[in-house]
Amino acid sequence: MARYTVTSALPYANGPIHFGHVAGAYLPADIFVRTLRMKGEEVLFVCGTDEHGVAITLRAEEQGLAYDEYVARWRQEHLETFRSLGIEFDVWSGTSVCPDHTATAQGFFTELDHGGYLIRRESEQLYCTHDEKFLADRYVMGTCYVCGHEQARGDECPSCGTWIQPLKLGSPRCKICSNEPERRKTTHWYLDLPKLRDEYIGEWIEDHQWKPNVSAFIKNMLADVPERAITRDMDWGVPLPEGVEGREGKVLYVWFDAPIGYISFTKELMARRGEGPDAWEKWWKGDTRLVHFIGKDNIPFHCMVFPAMLYGTHQDYVLPWAVPANEFYNLEEGKFSTSEGRTIDPKTFFETYDRESVRWYITTTLPETADAEFSLSGLVTTHNADLAGNIGNLVSRVLKFIAKNYDGRVPDLFEEHRAEMDAEILEHCGLIADPAEAVLAFQFRSAARIVTANASVANLFMQRLEPWSLRKTDPERAASALNTLCQYLGWLARWMAPFLPEKAGQLWAMLGMQDEVTGRAWPGLPQAADWRFLEPGHRLGTPAALFPRLEAPPE
Ligand code: MF3
Ligand code: ZN
Repeated sequence: MARYTVTSALPYANGPIHFGHVAGAYLPADIFVRTLRMKGEEVLFVCGTDEHGVAITLRAEEQGLAYDEYVARWRQEHLETFRSLGIEFDVWSGTSVCPDHTATAQGFFTELDHGGYLIRRESEQLYCTHDEKFLADRYVMGTCYVCGHEQARGDECPSCGTWIQPLKLGSPRCKICSNEPERRKTTHWYLDLPKLRDEYIGEWIEDHQWKPNVSAFIKNMLADVPERAITRDMDWGVPLPEGVEGREGKVLYVWFDAPIGYISFTKELMARRGEGPDAWEKWWKGDTRLVHFIGKDNIPFHCMVFPAMLYGTHQDYVLPWAVPANEFYNLEEGKFSTSEGRTIDPKTFFETYDRESVRWYITTTLPETADAEFSLSGLVTTHNADLAGNIGNLVSRVLKFIAKNYDGRVPDLFEEHRAEMDAEILEHCGLIADPAEAVLAFQFRSAARIVTANASVANLFMQRLEPWSLRKTDPERAASALNTLCQYLGWLARWMAPFLPEKAGQLWAMLGMQDEVTGRAWPGLPQAADWRFLEPGHRLGTPAALFPRLEAPPE
């Protein structure tokens, strides 16, 4: 038994969740967590919104909304989107509302400072005299000094991807009023990443087992690690701790406070559960496996910066056990991007397509090792092949036949046929793999393929034994074969559960089961001696089409 603390990247409270995010950090995490729960592991699944930072204040200002009101809308909206996809966190909070967040983030600042990992430095920054503010990050625009793009932002150039040093921008201008800013002196705190790297984190990164796509990325990064500013001149964010000299008008940088949200949200949940002030520690200190589900753009922060912060507090935090980062997931040709209008709004999408088909299709196309693409025609084809054709067809043929000819009860298993039936379904028809093993290795696509392959086993069994014609020539063998198929459908329902929780539950009910399929222990692979769990004569539920076929989408 192990304990797992599972996080999904905190989405910005600043725009809709689309399938690119879902594939990157949320759906795989949900499948992983559901699998662990069925295996009886202790799991905590944490998420909530990332609510600070300039990208958010700018957008709220554009829309004339107070910051807290603006982020509250997205916090609610995201939660609904995740619900509509069947993605269920143990805690859903937000960095500007979590009651434990300010103190926890300030604690990190203080502990890192005590450890000697913060550098206080005065420097020149761009300041707008019209708006009377320092122009942090995206509040300044100008010409990129690497590629010449004229709409570069103070944090990043959208054209060439360079991390911008704002003072080097050509013809800088204020994003709010377009005036040219001046330079003023201000003090900021920097995280001494080079020191953290040399002391411990560099070695830890080198020795850690990373997913191959992550490994290449971060080992390159180690060579050139900058000191990173972790404060900003702004008023929306976590203020610096009391007592810090020069703290006025400054907040912690959003990327500093956001990952700490994983911890403060855990504290919030434990308090709500009434578990005592130290209950959160078992999820963050000592014996737990910390797993961060993220998209690849978050790799530097989760594989280097946040681990360095956790280590640098010297508070015995665990470091990530796995960071199963995904590549990008595109919508047909080109990135999902709000600005270019290339989005699908999950909420309206589910009016036409079943959320379980969407979960399934995304799982089969996850960008695990390379960028991947969502296409409507792919969704329909995959649904029709795997779900309607393979699983749905199997279920309806077996259960309708039994409803009609066996009074809707599990047919008898005749002792002289037992060995043959066991051997057929468990050996000869090709059953070999347990999907959970692939899930636990973060190979979700292959896990889904295993579920389909296991359904094919029953289809092959049906073809080989043809119980409907056998019923006339050898009724005992026919009944034994159908008994076998009922049992096997029960296993299939449980194998499906982490991927297709709702449909698996419906199948489970069609088998006449009263409890929740997701509440059942993970079945693993059936063993010949004792894999039948439905008694002959057990009353089945009403068969219905589990996965009606979909029409091809309009061109
Ligand atoms: N909001 C960031 C993004 O969407 C992710 C933040 S993850 C956290 O890219 F760890 F910082 F919370
Ligand atoms: Zn201005």
